[in-house]
Amino acid sequence: MRRKLIVVSNRGPVTFQADGSERRSSGGLATALRSLLRYHDVTWIASATSEEDRARAGTTLDQTAEDGSPYRLHLIAHDEQAYDWYYNVVANPMLWFIQHSLWELAYTPKVDRAFHTAWRDGYAAVNAGFAASVLTELERDPDTAVFFHDYHLYLAPRLVRDERPDTTLMHFVHVPWPQPDYWSVLPRAIRSAIHDGLVANDVIGFHTDRWRRNFIFSTRELLGEDVTQKTVTAPISVEPAEFDALAESDAVLTAERDIVARRPEKLVVRVDRTDPSKNIVRGFRAFELYLDAHPDMRRRVGMLALLDPSRQDIPEYAEYLAAIERETRRVNDRFQENGWMPIELQIDDNFTMVVAAYKQFDVLLVNAIFDGMNLVAKEAPLVNTRDGAVVLSENTGAHAELGEWALNVNPFDVAGQAEAIHEALSLDLGERRRRLEAIQEYVRGHDVSRWIELQLAALDRVSATARR
Ligand code: F6P
Repeated sequence: MRRKLIVVSNRGPVTFQADGSERRSSGGLATALRSLLRYHDVTWIASATSEEDRARAGTTLDQTAEDGSPYRLHLIAHDEQAYDWYYNVVANPMLWFIQHSLWELAYTPKVDRAFHTAWRDGYAAVNAGFAASVLTELERDPDTAVFFHDYHLYLAPRLVRDERPDTTLMHFVHVPWPQPDYWSVLPRAIRSAIHDGLVANDVIGFHTDRWRRNFIFSTRELLGEDVTQKTVTAPISVEPAEFDALAESDAVLTAERDIVARRPEKLVVRVDRTDPSKNIVRGFRAFELYLDAHPDMRRRVGMLALLDPSRQDIPEYAEYLAAIERETRRVNDRFQENGWMPIELQIDDNFTMVVAAYKQFDVLLVNAIFDGMNLVAKEAPLVNTRDGAVVLSENTGAHAELGEWALNVNPFDVAGQAEAIHEALSLDLGERRRRLEAIQEYVRGHDVSRWIELQLAALDRVSATARR
């Protein structure tokens, strides 16, 4: 059934460029939500993030997605200072760091007066701006359901609910939900407002039972409410046909020829944003330990790290990128010989190269500290041509689905990760193929349309209950 939906997310599907062209947003959320456009009647509300976006803000634009699907786009030009506080001080890093358990609590974070200002005049103000845009769109079409996304928008649902008690609201949380105690990093009024904003929705979705359970516990503890019936587990996924087509595209085939011409006998690949949650520095350390323990593999194996530079206005992220570069230099300096470099680092947003590397890995390393899902673990095996093995952190959402066929690692245990790289490279062909084919079959049977269906089915259940 085709439905009317208002999708609300900080990052929209495209960003307008200076020459008037549209740049497709990368990242799991924007990619998965683009699939909604094909099946439903969507108005998408998002932040303006470029000057050209700002020039188009305030009106609702009639847009056409790459596959020809029509949709409407409503961009919001937030006050620039408010947006900086919202994005660079509160959402990332504070909420992101809490939800991925990244704070070193003896030293950080600092919840000082500047943070309180950023919360009030940044995060809350921008959320109020989103809620106002939702209400404007609802005036045009009152029976539309509203679908909020992620940690940027925790306060908006309550503001909409207060004005429109009967509108159907749902929210998908794309990041982990930590244990209740970890939320105590934030003052009670703030953490209560976050939970209260979320429970204003009719349905709240998570990638795994683990994150969903933590949310049920923390809501019970903070608000004294049992929200079990409102929550749903719906693991996000990918559109396999999109990857099949990309894998055979001229651009990817050219990039792949380039990798094949340079690649060592065995290739370990990692693909990430340069985010501290991705655990890239420990991954290099694990590779170093592997090379230490297996000198016979030096010159025969290499790691290709394709890293998309992310959120560089935030000091923690800029420092992390510097640490990635330092660690690469250190490991390369230690082992390089006769033109062989153990780690090839590419800091770039180059999806063509990413898909080419997906085709070529012998080992895919996904060792995130915590990760809501990690779509790389689903995308890469789909197009891999080398019976590659997946080394997967037990703290990713993907682990709940794919753990059975991966080599599972504790993200803090670098010795264990070095051992897993060794095991992955030592598996015989039959075993590697069995595991890879099982992952491919699973992802094809649990694609992004299923993610959407699971949530809409949950929505139908609550609407039916409300009518009874
Ligand atoms: O849920 C986390 C997420 O929204 C991902 O889907 C996406 O890859 C990433 O964060 C994008 O972050 P940003 O919009 O800050 O670049």
